[in-house]
Amino acid sequence: MDMAIERPRVLSGIQPTSGSFHLGNYLGAVRQWVAQQETHDAFYMVADLHAVTVPQDPAEFRSNTRLAVAQLLAAGLDPERCTLFVQSHVPEHAQLGWLLNCLTGFGEASRMTQFKDKSAKQGVERTTVGLFTYPVLMAADILLYQSDQVPVGGDQRQHLELTRDLAERFNSRYGEIFTVPEAFILKETARIVDLQDPVVKMSKSASTPKGIIDLLDEPKASAKKIKSAVTDTDTVIRFDEEHKPGVSNLLTIYASLTGTGIPELEQRYEGKGYGALKTDLAEVVVEWVTPFRERTRGYLDDPETLDSILAKGAEKARAVAAETLAQAYDRMGFLAAKH
Ligand code: TRP
Repeated sequence: MDMAIERPRVLSGIQPTSGSFHLGNYLGAVRQWVAQQETHDAFYMVADLHAVTVPQDPAEFRSNTRLAVAQLLAAGLDPERCTLFVQSHVPEHAQLGWLLNCLTGFGEASRMTQFKDKSAKQGVERTTVGLFTYPVLMAADILLYQSDQVPVGGDQRQHLELTRDLAERFNSRYGEIFTVPEAFILKETARIVDLQDPVVKMSKSASTPKGIIDLLDEPKASAKKIKSAVTDTDTVIRFDEEHKPGVSNLLTIYASLTGTGIPELEQRYEGKGYGALKTDLAEVVVEWVTPFRERTRGYLDDPETLDSILAKGAEKARAVAAETLAQAYDRMGFLAAKH
């Protein structure tokens, strides 16, 4: 019997908007994706259709999409173990997205807090309708694959709730075709914060350049950022996110990259200053990012291999997505096209 059939299905996505992934992306999400290849029937995509909800420079966008794929492979996604694809290569996402748009209340979509925040920042005239329906497209991504679980950060919880509501609504109106997915909110232990402002999450939008470790940066520059991370006026190395967020962040990064437990690290650094911790962690980071950059470069230097990985991924993804979409069309009463 094929054991893969028994495995729960997961789907997740990452937008190709940032160029280099940062340490928060990797430790907070991508590392989990890599682990779930072994335990789940995993579908991972680069969410390029989501990226164009805000303006993108075409050349940069295309190269960032390649870069995102290269980094996912460098991080350990294995096309033999998971289905890795680019969202726009599977047209069914946009197609199911439309059907679900027509099932979503205007008020319901208006209550999405991420949309409210982003549109408030950009101003209503510069906010696209695409950004408004972003969560509905995300629901289509998830429902097309009959995903059981969706590993996401806490900021996506509301979008997952909407996805569940839409699945249930469709199922009760037209018959059960969609699996109602569970959110799998990624563990808080991997919550990496800004090195300079350790109360905000490490993120492209909220962090200053000095507060963020870009995985593709010069390793030396990353080492320097670790060494100048904000800590506190105390000298004790102890994990205490509330009172010592900077030090706790360094311990989290250290523990996550090396697999050493935090209590063990606390013991190892007892009586030593922050300088010692930072010097060692800088080295750990350099040792991790150096081969990561090389692997990424390797994939970028071999576009044929990368393209063929994506072609296979899209083919595998489409086989599943097309079947779900056909059922949705049929249940809603669309006249079938005869070939
Ligand atoms: N919105 C997600 C984010 O910004 C990315 C994403 C798009 C996604 N489609 C998805 C995540 C489907 C999970 C499932 O993090």
